[in-house]
Amino acid sequence: MIATRLSLRDFRSYSAADVRLGPGLTVVSGRNGAGKTNLLEAIYFACTGRSCRTANEREVVRFGAELTRLELACEDALGRHEISVGFKPGDAKRLKADGAPVDNLVGVSARPLVSVFLPDRLELVLGAPALRRSHLDQVVAALWPARAGTRRAYSAALAQRNALLASIRAGRASKASLPAWDAELARHGIALMADRDATVERLRPRFAEHAAGLGLEGEVELRYRPRSKAADAAGLVAELAERVESDLERGFTGHGPHRDDLAFRREGRELRAYGSRGQQRLGLLSLLLAEREELAAERGSAPLLLLDDVMSELDATRRERLTSLLRRDGQAVITTTELEHVPGSDADDVEKIFIEGGRALQGVEA
Ligand SMILES: Nc1ncnc2c1ncn2[C@@H]1O[C@H](COP(=O)(O)OP(=O)(O)OP(=O)(O)O)[C@@H](O)[C@H]1O
Ligand SMILES: [Mg+2]
Repeated sequence: MIATRLSLRDFRSYSAADVRLGPGLTVVSGRNGAGKTNLLEAIYFACTGRSCRTANEREVVRFGAELTRLELACEDALGRHEISVGFKPGDAKRLKADGAPVDNLVGVSARPLVSVFLPDRLELVLGAPALRRSHLDQVVAALWPARAGTRRAYSAALAQRNALLASIRAGRASKASLPAWDAELARHGIALMADRDATVERLRPRFAEHAAGLGLEGEVELRYRPRSKAADAAGLVAELAERVESDLERGFTGHGPHRDDLAFRREGRELRAYGSRGQQRLGLLSLLLAEREELAAERGSAPLLLLDDVMSELDATRRERLTSLLRRDGQAVITTTELEHVPGSDADDVEKIFIEGGRALQGVEA
């Protein structure tokens, strides 16, 4: 499934825009503040009904406007589709797929999956483990939608166990009720760990391949780091039992997959601590590219890649490598202040959008 055209009204800096997206690479260029990231965000918003940039979604409605509307035309081998999103702060969103209202766009097959790289996504490499866990769980859910419930079931069991620990601590409940919850937590925990492990195992070879291809030198590795060593639910129950005193002292569960991490390593050392900024960027890109290929293999359709300002910290060789990879397979939209930063962008197979004076122009050298 590819996106072919985006039309919008009153989104961020745009009063109206209507742009074509290429089946391969589309380059959005313009000076700082022109509205490039806004356009990328609009594509994401049209695909998912959410912003990839802010939790305060009223920000996306153009200053002075009441509501924003976006329409995204898509296409696959079987035909054309259309997604539309209407958003008025304070009201429920109006989402439609092929003309029919839907509650959300998550499971909608009329649109491509999207994968987005914003500069602040480097937090995925640099930030707290919770970000990596939640990203990993999103990949699990994208690869195998039926398994999305595992994480929720685990979180619910964890919340129950924590509530019980607090009650025992306060003398309002007895320890005798713990084992039942431990078994429940362990059952979901083992399933969650198995999903995460399977996902990382699938991503690992592609990750290493992309890292090498993009010029991240040395031995580069993606590794799942579960907190628990348990091989089955009984093992995890035993680990929980060993730590029950410290859990009771703290009032929450200190052990289990809610403490897992995902490590990006180069030459045996964490990219997070020792990598250069460019290396960290390449690590993140390698992960997104690996995910895209696995999704394409599993779901039969590659996600649309949205890459914001990804070239600015890369040298000429690495820009070249990334661009040729992006032109080779899948659909991608990339923003840049300088067209020269995207080598080969003058080729016919690359769609170009120029942002100027608050408008998105196409087919004219601005
Ligand atoms: N809701 C809104 N209504 C109108 N304008 C907005 C709104 N939100 C943001 N803007 C404007 O959008 C502009 C920024 O756009 P954007 O972030 O897309 O720039 P950019 O082209 O990505 O720039 P850079 O190269 O610096 O990343 C700012 O001038 C900002 O004032
Ligand atoms: Mg920007």
